[in-house]
Amino acid sequence: MTDSASFPDGFFFGAATSSFQIEGRSPDVGQGESIWDTFCAEPGRIADGSNGHVACDHVTRWQEDVDLIAALNLSTYRFSIAWPRVIPEGRGRVNVTGLDFYDRLVDGLLAKGIRPVPTLYHWDLPQTLEDEGGWVHRDTAYAFADYTEVVVERLGDRIETWVTLNEPYVSASHGYVSGEHAPGHTSLAMGLAAAHHLLLGHGLAAERIRSLAPNADLGIVLNFTPAEPATDSPADIALTKVTNGWENEWYIDPLCRGAYPAETVEALGWAQDEVLDGDMDIISAPIDILGVNFYTRAVISGVDQGLPFDAPKTAMGWEIHEESLEHLLVWLDETYALPKIMITENGAAMPDMTRVDGRVHDPDRILYLDGHLRSVLRAIDAGVPMVGYFAWSLLDNFEWAHGYAKRFGIVEVVPETLERIPKSSALWFAELAKTGTLPPVA
Ligand code: FCB
Repeated sequence: MTDSASFPDGFFFGAATSSFQIEGRSPDVGQGESIWDTFCAEPGRIADGSNGHVACDHVTRWQEDVDLIAALNLSTYRFSIAWPRVIPEGRGRVNVTGLDFYDRLVDGLLAKGIRPVPTLYHWDLPQTLEDEGGWVHRDTAYAFADYTEVVVERLGDRIETWVTLNEPYVSASHGYVSGEHAPGHTSLAMGLAAAHHLLLGHGLAAERIRSLAPNADLGIVLNFTPAEPATDSPADIALTKVTNGWENEWYIDPLCRGAYPAETVEALGWAQDEVLDGDMDIISAPIDILGVNFYTRAVISGVDQGLPFDAPKTAMGWEIHEESLEHLLVWLDETYALPKIMITENGAAMPDMTRVDGRVHDPDRILYLDGHLRSVLRAIDAGVPMVGYFAWSLLDNFEWAHGYAKRFGIVEVVPETLERIPKSSALWFAELAKTGTLPPVA
């Protein structure tokens, strides 16, 4: 056993963001419309009626944000590249100014000794591709590979770790099945097709990355919400099995085993017509690293899906249950034997009501981070090959259908001025990043 509060040498600490959530639409950089621009413009889609036009104005304030990351002692930064900024119509014409922006960002990070970890797709699909069917349409996977090639040709000499997709589960399920995210469709059949084409897009993009950047680590980011039955009734157990199959195994199984989880395929009644010869080989080519996004678990009941009565929750209403992260990591390691795992997102929206000396004082967020980081430490002790941890998020930002009301940042972004002010949690995290040992939480 290591000292229970200290991380091994070489374990990295970083913070994560995504393009649509922070960048804003500067006319100087140029971009096409994404499905999120369209979705935000539809009445009733976003809780506070907001959009990504300004967001955190990161496209103009990026240098200040790089300085902030450095001031917080973070060695690594996870961000995403906006496909419509690089290829405004989704395929064809490259917007060199957009690519220049990411080039400058990467150089700016490296100049401060910060390792950039770009994600190629964090949900902002070019609207022109959605007009042709989006991820339901197989061609989108090939367009994604072509876009990947353009980006890797430009940045590949400086990137050590590439991430293809962020949370394909949420892209397919929220975007095409429940409709709570862009593009807002509500069809299980569309969701199943989208899920397969997202995975195919990952596999095709991975081929391009392998040939253009053979020394880089290649990864994908999946979200996991481990489901547990509320009771041991057969109904709860059966529903939990399907929930786990669709939410937690649907992506990792094809990636690591070359097949969708059979029982869930049957339960969902999917004929797999979209799966063509050779697809599963493309999808299951080995990855070097898995990115895990973890926020909460799900307690499943056929009768009532409510949380246990007194469960502590974040401002999202998500149960705080850090033990589930340790169990998830051990399960992933035992089941899929991945070479390396990094936490690519973990964090909490909190009320952020208290200020001390002009700074948001957020001990509840510190407790959340501390609890989950201790869970990661226990997973390391159990032998899981964990290499790093990104807090979600560097900044308060556009939280999708919730708009700006849900604040996940360890750094406050003052709505009126966009001034960045580190919260107490950022100072705590900076101390952890400096020493590698969990600071006191008091
Ligand atoms: C994840 C998303 C990320 C952020 C967090 C709270 O599902 O990847 O962009 O919205 O949730």
